[in-house]
Amino acid sequence: MRHRMIIPGAVAASLLLAVPASAAEPSPGTPGVGDPYYPEYGNGGYDVSHYDLRLTYQPKTDALQGTATLLATATQDLSRFNLDFALDVSEIRVNGKKAKFATSGAHELEVTPAKPLAKGDKATVVVRYKGVPSKVVVNGFTSWHRTPDGGVAANEPEAAWWWFPSNDHPSDKASYDVSVSVPDGTQAISNGTLQSQTSRAGWTRYNWRSRAPQATYLATLAVGRFDITKDRTDSGLPVINAYSKDLGEHDGAARASVERTAEITEWLEGYFGKYPFDAMGGYVPNTDTTYALETQTRPFYSPDDFADGSNTSVVVHEMAHQWYGDSVSLKGWKDIWINEGFARYSQWLWSEDQGEGTAQELADYAYASHPANESFWKVKPGDPGPDNQFHRAVYDRGAMAVQALRNKVGDKAFFKILKGWPQQHAGGNANVGDFTAYAEKVSGKPLASLFDTWLFQPTKPEAPAGPRFAG
Ligand code: ARG
Ligand code: ZN
Repeated sequence: MRHRMIIPGAVAASLLLAVPASAAEPSPGTPGVGDPYYPEYGNGGYDVSHYDLRLTYQPKTDALQGTATLLATATQDLSRFNLDFALDVSEIRVNGKKAKFATSGAHELEVTPAKPLAKGDKATVVVRYKGVPSKVVVNGFTSWHRTPDGGVAANEPEAAWWWFPSNDHPSDKASYDVSVSVPDGTQAISNGTLQSQTSRAGWTRYNWRSRAPQATYLATLAVGRFDITKDRTDSGLPVINAYSKDLGEHDGAARASVERTAEITEWLEGYFGKYPFDAMGGYVPNTDTTYALETQTRPFYSPDDFADGSNTSVVVHEMAHQWYGDSVSLKGWKDIWINEGFARYSQWLWSEDQGEGTAQELADYAYASHPANESFWKVKPGDPGPDNQFHRAVYDRGAMAVQALRNKVGDKAFFKILKGWPQQHAGGNANVGDFTAYAEKVSGKPLASLFDTWLFQPTKPEAPAGPRFAG
């Protein structure tokens, strides 16, 4: 997907475009897709349709090595293009021929093919690499969670740099084959279906396939000592869960929650329509990380999510993201409200279903529990800024905005919007403007001022989201 570019390099590129097309030389792809929150994330000039990752990982040393093969299409004449990656690369080939490459910045790889690519050309990009992901710190952080028995790649908005080269932005979605060889007794978990598992000479290779378009940050890899459970839904979809063998006292609560994934997904289908993928599950590695992540088809959970006993609410949240975030991905990182506001709101619906408080009660409680002078209200869920992307306000005020919408348009239109939206953009990308336009169309009501109040003002709205106050 092509974006308007805001980085200085783009000025030069647009000057070049002023030259008549016949005379224009192929130009370098930009080092970012032009997301204002993260100007260098993703890359310009090409679109990836498929990632094939064939890897070997040694848990003892955290050594990862292998080959990534990307199937891409040039979206402009390209003399050179970038990949986002932070491990050590030994060779790159483009359409079979060795390409020149150089690192630039902390996670950019500049690739110069032997022959420039013309707009519309297909490119097979083969990258051979190795590294110790836990040793790689970019901009002061690492998204690779080293565990006593291996490691896990799961983070948002960036996780791929630590394990595969990519066009790292949700605007460029692709299918994935992830094949990882690990020492016998260790397991490798990724997205989608487990196509096969083969053992030879002390190593076992796990072959995973994720067929539906998937954003780079939703691709995951976990290696460790896992107990893998396999089942099928009533409609025949594989349900594959994985629990670290070292969850200790968290083991029961983790299983009592994640084993309910199929039941919860079926319940969510009542609100969002048919589950968009061909497999499901969840995995809980032995990590001291404390967040969960909606990695596509198979969310990542932290043992900490189950510290106090079962937590079906977090399963509801991560599985709700399969529709709101994964199947329908954001266009830019500022659109995070569509992901988190609706995932949180699903938890409120689940609470209501469980007899633990209605969505309206939870909205009122959240509204009342933050005084007007609290910095909570300074965060605009519709444009929180990169530093506040995962601020509580994006979740809680974001879900209050959903309740306010419900009260404004009424239940009939609201549930039609809730179910229609994931169908409208299945497998694609959308932004907050697209959502508000869709809600107006379905409800037949003007909603600009409601969304402005709840999503775009740095102040506490006058009236809570309750029906008495809906204007
Ligand atoms: N999307 C995730 C969730 O709400 C949040 C991930 C936050 N990332 C982080 N590094 N804290 O489930
Ligand atoms: Zn979330």
